[in-house]
Amino acid sequence: MTRFSKIAVVTLGSLSGVNAWGVLGHATVAYVAQNYLSASTASWAKTVLGDTSGSYLANVASWADSYRTTAAGKWSAPLHYIDAEDNPPTNCNVDYARDCGSAGCSISAIANYTQRAGDGRLTTAHVAEALKFLVHFMGDITQPLHDEAYAVGGNSIKVTFEGYNDNLHSDWDTYMPQKLIGGSKLTDAQSWATTLIGEINSGSYKSQAASWIQGDTVSDPITSATRWASDANAYVCSVVMPNGAAALQTGDLYPDYYNSAIGTIELQIAKGGYRLANWLNLIYNTHVAKRDLEGAVEQAQNEGPDLMGRDLLPEPRGVSRAQLARDAMGESCCGSARHAH
Ligand SMILES: *[C@@H]1O[C@H](CO)[C@@H](O)[C@H](O)[C@H]1NC(C)=O
Repeated sequence: MTRFSKIAVVTLGSLSGVNAWGVLGHATVAYVAQNYLSASTASWAKTVLGDTSGSYLANVASWADSYRTTAAGKWSAPLHYIDAEDNPPTNCNVDYARDCGSAGCSISAIANYTQRAGDGRLTTAHVAEALKFLVHFMGDITQPLHDEAYAVGGNSIKVTFEGYNDNLHSDWDTYMPQKLIGGSKLTDAQSWATTLIGEINSGSYKSQAASWIQGDTVSDPITSATRWASDANAYVCSVVMPNGAAALQTGDLYPDYYNSAIGTIELQIAKGGYRLANWLNLIYNTHVAKRDLEGAVEQAQNEGPDLMGRDLLPEPRGVSRAQLARDAMGESCCGSARHAH
């Protein structure tokens, strides 16, 4: 093996092991969203991101996972999830005030980057950062184990999937989606997205898609994002561990558990993409288009929200048990799994 190809393999391995819907899931969410963006929203996003290719959202869908592993981006790690302190499988629920730590969580981050994406006072680079975070976090929030504190979102539930020893969280993020699709390249994501778009437009999701975005409003992003988190968290009780965690540790998760979960994984990826498109359309229509009409200067002079999002966070509370466990797990937790299936 040449030096070059060795480097390529190492890079691919670390990317595919990243914990948060893997590269495949995030890119699929992005491709589904691209299909439902209005022409004006799409052209705004392409300009901001400096990418006019057919993959302008998919190309940045996993940026936030790379960023969190850098020294400069470490602060953003808690923004990928919300640690719901509920009691699965008996009782599942999300409470923003209870569950979002003072370092922030997926819900506060979505609210913050929603404000920032639509605000005329920021540079294009900052608006691009906001878009990249939104594309990623609106995927993460549909993954049930990103809305759960129990066992560090399943990261510490050791399981076996297709003969590999791994943890429940990474099976949901990465290995079950990859089992379904057979790869994790952008072309795999694109073809998965095409299937899901078909289901939304004329298949099994047609009758429910409107309910996925019902009530979503950029004027109240905390409430909207809490609804998405609660919707996904409910699957922790009904699908992810309906009989508790120990029941998942008695044998290989393939094929029975996989078969019981894969439909929910597909549904959640479809929801993520459909919601992301609607959300970006709303940001564009409510803020960006309006500003273009009124003039950027006038808007910039107007009072706007605090762009650091300080007022979005709930009242400070103690450090959660899940966060302490995450800190103790260090490198082995939540983003640095390096094995490949
Ligand atoms: C909002 O985004 C900015 C820029 O990334 C960040 O510095 C700030 O901490 C964020 N605030 C919250 C509450 O997430």
